[in-house]
Amino acid sequence: MSDTTATGTRTPLLRLTGCAKHYGNIIALTGVDLEVCAGEVTCVLGDNGAGKSTLIKIISGMHQHDAGTYEVEGEPVRFASPRDALDRGIATVYQDLAVVPLMPVWRNFFLGSEKRKGFGPFSRLDVDLMRRTTKSELAAMGIDLRDVDQPIGTLSGGERQCVAIARAVYFGAKVLILDEPTAALGVKQAGVVLRYIVQARERGLGVVFITHNPHHAYPIGDRFLILNRGRSIGYHTKDEITREELTSLMAGGAELEQLSHELEQAATAAANGAASPSDAAGTTGRTAPAAEKEEAK
Ligand SMILES: Nc1ncnc2c1ncn2[C@@H]1O[C@H](COP(=O)(O)OP(=O)(O)OP(=O)(O)O)[C@@H](O)[C@H]1O
Ligand SMILES: [Mg+2]
Repeated sequence: MSDTTATGTRTPLLRLTGCAKHYGNIIALTGVDLEVCAGEVTCVLGDNGAGKSTLIKIISGMHQHDAGTYEVEGEPVRFASPRDALDRGIATVYQDLAVVPLMPVWRNFFLGSEKRKGFGPFSRLDVDLMRRTTKSELAAMGIDLRDVDQPIGTLSGGERQCVAIARAVYFGAKVLILDEPTAALGVKQAGVVLRYIVQARERGLGVVFITHNPHHAYPIGDRFLILNRGRSIGYHTKDEITREELTSLMAGGAELEQLSHELEQAATAAANGAASPSDAAGTTGRTAPAAEKEEAK
């Protein structure tokens, strides 16, 4: 198997080629190509219904693709469940993070993978170790929590996302998939989460960052896949695309231009309509009756 990628370097962690997914006769995704490499952030952008969640569901093992190939480190795969994906180091952080709000941060950090000490019937949770590890792992990501004993529900949305990212890193994820982690956050908190995405990349993970927002994607992304109604309408490395081009693609460039043209026309018409009828009659013979007609409506 070749170990070169589109950019001519190494085997990507993930590679999707011509991937498609149908739900009955709805085509949710078709002909999508994507590569995720270690130490890179791959951004998936698109409007509502573009197929972003469908794409991550395929990558994370929740759904299977109907056509195309999905390879992990060069080997074709077909995951039966998210557990299979996780076993291959593919961790997904969903927006409604699966946390237990009333449990302490450290309990949530180790949820489902608790550390124990002692043997057999005498084994018990190694609370000290879990507390210490949580604190040091969060600190290693630059997250400074006052108290890992506080219930995770008391953290801000941004902080909770950061804990989830640190957890995936600690449990050895190679690929980290983040489904719109910044969607519900304010500017400052979104900035914090973006910083941790960069940290995960610097630790050598391949990150898939799903977002609506080109302003969040552009500064931290290495590759950009733009989806529209289940199809790829652009797949670029950062040096191939500017922030303006990304924004315009994302917004449907031509449609947006048409819309702004229509809005300008509407604004001009409204301004003309607002001008006094005598004024308008004096300048253009047509405007006054038009304005009167508008008023009569
Ligand atoms: N389980 C399903 N059954 C039927 N249709 C579905 C299902 N899941 C998604 N779809 C359809 O597939 C298309 C893509 O949906 P998807 O959820 O992947 O979009 P999205 O890009 O994640 O959108 P959003 O930004 O709103 O989350 C949509 O038209 C959606 O209605
Ligand atoms: Mg979605």
